Amino acid sequence: MDVPNSVTLAAAEADAAASLAERERAFYNEKGETSYHLVRGWIWRAIGEFRRNEEAHDLYDAAGKDVLDYGCGPGYLTKQLIDAGAASVTGIDVSNAEIEQAQRRARQDGVEGRCRFLVADAHATGFPDDSFDLVIGDSIIHHLDVRRALVELRRILRPDGTAVFLEPLWHNPLLRVGRALTPSARTPDEHPLTVDDWALCAEIFPAFDHEERELFTIPLMPLNLVLPTRLQRRLAKRVWRFDDRMLARFPGLRKHARSTFLVMK
Ligand SMILES: C[S@@+](CC[C@H](N)C(=O)[O-])C[C@H]1O[C@@H](n2cnc3c(N)ncnc32)[C@H](O)[C@@H]1O
Repeated sequence: MDVPNSVTLAAAEADAAASLAERERAFYNEKGETSYHLVRGWIWRAIGEFRRNEEAHDLYDAAGKDVLDYGCGPGYLTKQLIDAGAASVTGIDVSNAEIEQAQRRARQDGVEGRCRFLVADAHATGFPDDSFDLVIGDSIIHHLDVRRALVELRRILRPDGTAVFLEPLWHNPLLRVGRALTPSARTPDEHPLTVDDWALCAEIFPAFDHEERELFTIPLMPLNLVLPTRLQRRLAKRVWRFDDRMLARFPGLRKHARSTFLVMK
């Protein structure tokens, strides 16, 4: 019997990552023909004013940096990065439909001459070593083979570079119920991050830190389907303060938050 050696194992792992990327491409290219947008709309209504995603962008400074938006989707962040003074902005995504949308958006925003978008697999981007000062991503790592992605990020980041990601977490049972109820808004392979993924980040990046947001807001999310925005906002401010205190005081609760912000150097 042939025993697989390290070369054949590495090739099998690369094939598995390429197949994963292919399935993601098919899902995102075809999502316009499914109930994806409808279900996503309901999810965003339930998150409502509890959302703290924007705070991830306070964790980096794009000014003067060569920035990569990793898994850029429709390019929501491009204008913000250019306005913040990025020296260059590159967006990659495995879906050509998403890249076309990002290009359209950049044209509409009048920034198309100051950014570029490429169809590429995040596991094997094809960029030379040390290409970027800053890599950012919103909800991408949990669509990837995490180890392969982190090794690729380490390779394309300059030695003094930083990578910042906003990702969902897996451990809270209420979030798992929410996911189970909304399968058409999820790709078959996506996997919100676990404490093991934090350990992997720490293994591959010598300086790794993470922060969590949205915890006691989670059981209150169904209220947002009926509360007016003004009341959601008032409630959010109170619960955020409570969340921050509890997460600082009881670190064991951190894995139960909705979002984790990863900062890797
Ligand atoms: C949840 S969406 C997030 C998109 C965008 N960052 C945003 O916040 O709107 C995940 C994105 O990852 C992309 N993606 C999934 N697997 C990928 C891969 N292997 N390489 C590059 N992009 C990938 C998908 O096409 C999709 O656009």
